[in-house]
Amino acid sequence: MNQRSTVAVLGAGTMGSGIATVMSRAGYRTLLYDVDETNLRRGVATVNGFFDRSVNLGKLDQEHALEAKSKLVGVTELREIADADVVVEAVFENLSLKKELLARLDEIVSTSALIHTNTSTLSVTGIASGSRHPERVVGTHYCNPAPLMKLVEVAHGRHTADWAHKATVDFLDSLGKTTVVTKDRPGFIVNRFLIPWENRCIAALESGLGTVESIDAAVTGALGHPMGPFQLLDIVGLDIHQQVATRLYEQLRAPRYFPPPMVERMVAAGDLGRKTGRGFYTYDDTRLFGS
Ligand SMILES: NC(=O)c1ccc[n+]([C@@H]2O[C@H](COP(=O)([O-])OP(=O)(O)OC[C@H]3O[C@@H](n4cnc5c(N)ncnc54)[C@H](O)[C@@H]3O)[C@@H](O)[C@H]2O)c1
Repeated sequence: MNQRSTVAVLGAGTMGSGIATVMSRAGYRTLLYDVDETNLRRGVATVNGFFDRSVNLGKLDQEHALEAKSKLVGVTELREIADADVVVEAVFENLSLKKELLARLDEIVSTSALIHTNTSTLSVTGIASGSRHPERVVGTHYCNPAPLMKLVEVAHGRHTADWAHKATVDFLDSLGKTTVVTKDRPGFIVNRFLIPWENRCIAALESGLGTVESIDAAVTGALGHPMGPFQLLDIVGLDIHQQVATRLYEQLRAPRYFPPPMVERMVAAGDLGRKTGRGFYTYDDTRLFGS
């Protein structure tokens, strides 16, 4: 893989637009695809907005921002990604959807292309079984917000080839990411710790131990986290937290994974976080992640 390589990101939601930001910032020609054109437009606007804010904050110079923006192309047909060397799928967390997408990719991209799945809770082996070439399918679990968080968990499925694993680690390295290798198990490493902890923070709020602001302040001030649990949950999306937590509970059967009742009420009310303008906090704009 080199800077002339083309990457494709499938799904322009929270993670897809974050991952596309990382790829275009690293100099790769980045094709961003979504079945939903409204989501695609929002994803492209989110990436471009991130670069604009980075310039305003003095974190990126104008020249590099223009260069990064020029690398991003939104596409509305899957066949437009035919020349991709790396494809990252970040569509809804649904096994049959991801398997079907991988089967379609078999007909579109070269067999030497790497296929990365950003699943949080599904089995990489299960997703790879949708492809006739499971040897080039690798789990790459980015942390949210992807442009700001350095860590990516790498998990290989039962049939992932060594060359694909090595090429994946090298590729993530070229993005400036730190990788940790983990087993293909529910939640990998990060969500095994993060989900029960977030659930406890929500339960603490629900029991009146503190407010949204005081719990966030306690966590950032004392535990050294870059943001509080409720700031993070608003970025992740309450719907996504509910899905991930429930899926982990279903697979691991430990009560600590089960989302507290407040999550269901917030999801039912449409208070999903930044993407709907209201979660634990309220937002003037619905950008998917900050600078
Ligand atoms: N949100 C997080 O914090 C987080 C963190 C790590 C991993 N993940 C995983 O990343 C994946 C995406 O999560 P998200 O939070 O970005 O979801 P999201 O709901 O924000 O975005 C998903 C996008 O996929 C699109 N999509 C659905 N079917 C498609 C298809 N067939 N082809 C192309 N696009 C399609 C949707 O239109 C939507 O825009 C999931 O597997 C999730 O588990 C999420």
